Amino acid sequence: MSGRKGKGVMFTVLVANPKGGAGKTTIATNLAGYLAGKRQRVVILDMDRQRSAARWLARRPRGFPEIRGALPETNPHIIRDYAPQWLIVDAPAGVHGAQLQAFVKLADAVLVPVATSAFDFEATADFLNELTALKPIKEGRRPLAVIGSKVDGRTVAAADLDEFLAPLSLDVLCHIRDSQLYVHAARDGLSIFDQPRSRAEEAWADWPPVLHWLQTLVTAKAEHADTSGKA
Ligand SMILES: Nc1ncnc2c1ncn2[C@@H]1O[C@H](COP(=O)(O)OP(=O)(O)OP(=O)(O)O)[C@@H](O)[C@H]1O
Ligand SMILES: [Mg+2]
Repeated sequence: MSGRKGKGVMFTVLVANPKGGAGKTTIATNLAGYLAGKRQRVVILDMDRQRSAARWLARRPRGFPEIRGALPETNPHIIRDYAPQWLIVDAPAGVHGAQLQAFVKLADAVLVPVATSAFDFEATADFLNELTALKPIKEGRRPLAVIGSKVDGRTVAAADLDEFLAPLSLDVLCHIRDSQLYVHAARDGLSIFDQPRSRAEEAWADWPPVLHWLQTLVTAKAEHADTSGKA
């Protein structure tokens, strides 16, 4: 990576859920694909030893909007030099404790994809309790959003997810449908936003709530940086 593009704020999104297969890498790679398509400089920091996001990037065909990758061992200077507007952190399964605290500290916002099986609820409950008890989250300094993963918002499964989250005082920000588009995109190093409108438009329609949520937070961070800079 080279070529500093000038200063600006970098917004870090942590995608985390200790349950394997919850949809973390799918959310991280598709968010990256969307942002890159909007001409944003995006780095995916793949913290998972399975390297799913890094391998996805390696499969990404030429000619699609650029997304750069970083690994835990990547020199932070290399990331800084590229001056990404977005750093998307794909957390490993099983994350908790001190590692989770460190990830949350690094992040500006946390996305938690939750799939809707009983197994997913059981495996995610302790994590959400731990996460919402962390000071930066409790005090609202690290906004947290839950994304329904592989679920249609109009189904009983979506209602089950609402019921699961209610005692935690958490709402679902959006539902990402279960679609083969994601499976094919993962295989091909693409996001659904790299696919033609005629094929992917319905799936795109699931994303605006999370994209708007992030945009609002980025704007607030940029304004805050601006004010602090002038002070
Ligand atoms: N919305 C979706 N529609 C269809 N398949 C999906 C969707 N989201 C994820 N999948 C599939 O579910 C599986 C698990 O998804 P993914 O790898 O994103 O989860 P993960 O939380 O990153 O898993 P891990 O904990 O192993 O890193 C993958 O095969 C992926 O292609
Ligand atoms: Mg993953």
